[in-house]
Amino acid sequence: MNKKLLVKKAIESKDNAYVPYSNFHVGAAVMTEKGNIYTGCNIESAAYTPTICAERTAIFKAVSEGEKNIIAIAITGDSEYTYPCGVCRQVIREFGRNAKIYIVKSEKEYREYTIDDLLPHSFGPEDLTKGKRKEE
Ligand code: THU
Repeated sequence: MNKKLLVKKAIESKDNAYVPYSNFHVGAAVMTEKGNIYTGCNIESAAYTPTICAERTAIFKAVSEGEKNIIAIAITGDSEYTYPCGVCRQVIREFGRNAKIYIVKSEKEYREYTIDDLLPHSFGPEDLTKGKRKEE
């Protein structure tokens, strides 16, 4: 897995952020099981709520191309270390159960996590099959 390239791609993607309302730029890059990289940036809207985060842009690009397994994701934003929001953590949980998560300050400075670090005791697809109630 080319970690260096993934980090570089996330940093580059930050420049594509469309953020006229927050002026807060975020870039992300995911590596799939097949070894492909998909990038993403945050994209805002004048109606505010349609805004999508960089992480979900990148993950949904991969999934919509048929790649549902993310093995790594790099994230970088305008704060020193920009961590994924709660919604994005849930989406990483869905498609990157064992992914390495790099929170990137620069090409040389980043922190590494798993989704269990960032979203402990998470709810996931398996929980849906554990319902106690019988079908009515
Ligand atoms: N944002 C992301 O892209 N990723 C995150 O994990 C945190 C928040 C974006 C959404 C919005 O465009 C801006 O940052 C400010 O919240």
